[in-house]
Amino acid sequence: MARLTGRKILIAGGASGIGQATAELFRRHGAAVAVLDRSAGEWDGLFVRGDVADAVSVGKAVEAAGAALGGLDGVVNAAGIFSAAGLADTSADLFSRTLAVNLLGTFLVVQATAPLLLASGAGATIVNIGSGVGITPTGPGSTAYVASKGGVIAMTKALAMELAPSVRVNVVCPGAVDTPMTRSFLRDASGAVDPALANRYALRRPAQPDELAAAILFLTCAESSFVTGIALPVDGGRTFH
Ligand SMILES: NC(=O)c1ccc[n+]([C@@H]2O[C@H](COP(=O)([O-])OP(=O)(O)OC[C@H]3O[C@@H](n4cnc5c(N)ncnc54)[C@H](O)[C@@H]3O)[C@@H](O)[C@H]2O)c1
Repeated sequence: MARLTGRKILIAGGASGIGQATAELFRRHGAAVAVLDRSAGEWDGLFVRGDVADAVSVGKAVEAAGAALGGLDGVVNAAGIFSAAGLADTSADLFSRTLAVNLLGTFLVVQATAPLLLASGAGATIVNIGSGVGITPTGPGSTAYVASKGGVIAMTKALAMELAPSVRVNVVCPGAVDTPMTRSFLRDASGAVDPALANRYALRRPAQPDELAAAILFLTCAESSFVTGIALPVDGGRTFH
């Protein structure tokens, strides 16, 4: 059953990984989808180039997407960067850049799209992508990234209040997902998943992007019509394990 028929949805970071899997799933469910990203990658649908960390760029991209789709009633914020560095090696620039893309970027896309979402009538949605590490870090070495994702989780709850009752706002918190972002540390030279990493998960494996897209679909479609302000771990049991 198509769950997004007639919906008009912008996916920031939709050219790769979780965002791309979501864009493709949403299209299969009948949505009109626009992807906002730095480059189109393999996405062959409606594309608007933009840098989520730059307010002017976001404003132009959202205007173009809204004009092309005839409005917007859904947003997914999947643009993000990972940064791994211990405390002593985390420069102010690295910290700022990580927060600029992951936290400010999410805010800027929400701010720019909110008028269109509010004008669309009831049933509009925003799904942000946080991380399980924004709830419970897995270990040392990524304080800036953890701070950015903790910020996304807290900000989602504030936005759910700001935009209620017209727009539902939720955040999905993935564990490790097999995407270009994690390729450098998820697998060894032979392509096998690092067993130490897999063992952090009750399900003993990382997720595939489609498994995140399915949760994002649930929070975007009408089946979650009474759900707002939640942080949903989709992490193979990592945060309780
Ligand atoms: N892969 C994981 O294990 C994992 C785990 C937890 C959370 N996440 C989060 O999920 C989201 C998606 O990650 P992914 O694994 O699909 O990564 P990915 O690298 O495959 O995709 C990220 C996308 O964001 C885009 N992007 C990055 N900076 C941008 C900018 N300034 N402006 C516009 N677009 C920009 C990239 O071009 C890319 O298309 C990120 O927020 C990431 O932090 C990923």
